[in-house]
Amino acid sequence: MSSNITWHNGHVDQSVREKLLKHKSHVLWFTGLSGSGKSTIAVEVEKKLFEKNIFCYRLDGDNIRHGLNSDLGFSKEERAENIRRISEVARLFCDAGVVTLVSFISPYRQIRQNARTTIGDKQFIEIYVKCSIETCAKRDPKGLYEKVKQGEIKDFTGYTSDYEEPLQPDLILDTEKFTIDQAVDQTLAYLVPKIMP
Ligand code: ADX
Repeated sequence: MSSNITWHNGHVDQSVREKLLKHKSHVLWFTGLSGSGKSTIAVEVEKKLFEKNIFCYRLDGDNIRHGLNSDLGFSKEERAENIRRISEVARLFCDAGVVTLVSFISPYRQIRQNARTTIGDKQFIEIYVKCSIETCAKRDPKGLYEKVKQGEIKDFTGYTSDYEEPLQPDLILDTEKFTIDQAVDQTLAYLVPKIMP
C-alpha cells in the first residue's frame, strides 16, 4: 500500500469530456468461455460504434496478456489480479469519456462484482456471451481445446478451472442461437440509447 499520497482533482472531468465527444461513456464487460465469441463480437461492436462517431476502445484479454499483464498466468489469484488491473484501466478509459469494450473470460462472480464496484454500477454493463463448453470445444478457434485434451494446458477454464455463469447479467448474447451479426445488433440496441442523448 502506498502512503502519504493525495488525490488531485483537475478542472476537466468525465462529464466535460462526454460533452466534447457528444455521447456518454460506459464499460461493456464481455464475459464467457474461451471460444464463446467475446472478442469477435467486441471487434464488430467497436467497428459499428466508430461508424456512429462514438469514440470507443477495446481491451482484449489475449492482447493485454501480451503487454500490461504478461507477467500473469491462469491460477485463481493471477486471474483475479488480471481482472483487477483491467478494471482499473477500464475505469480510467471510461473516465476519459471512451466507450470501453472489455473482453476477458473473467470467470468468477466475485471478480466481476469487484469490477462493477471499481467502475461504478451505472456505467458497467455485464454481458454474458453464452455458449456451451461443447460448442466452444468444437469451434476451437485457437486450437486450445485440442491441447487441453492432450493434457498440455493446466487450469483451463471450463475443464480444470471454474467458470461461474453470471446470475443477473445486464445482457445475454447466446452465440449458439444467434449469429455474430445478431449478437452485435443486440449489443447496440441495448447500449446506444444509454449513451446517446
Ligand atoms: S481470465 O480468466 O484471466 O479473464 P483472459 O480473458 O485474460 O482470462 O485470457 C483468456 C485467454 O487466454 C483465452 O481466450 C485463451 O486464448 C488463453 N488461455 C491460455 N491459457 C488459458 C487457460 N488455462 N484458461 C483459459 N484461457 C487460456
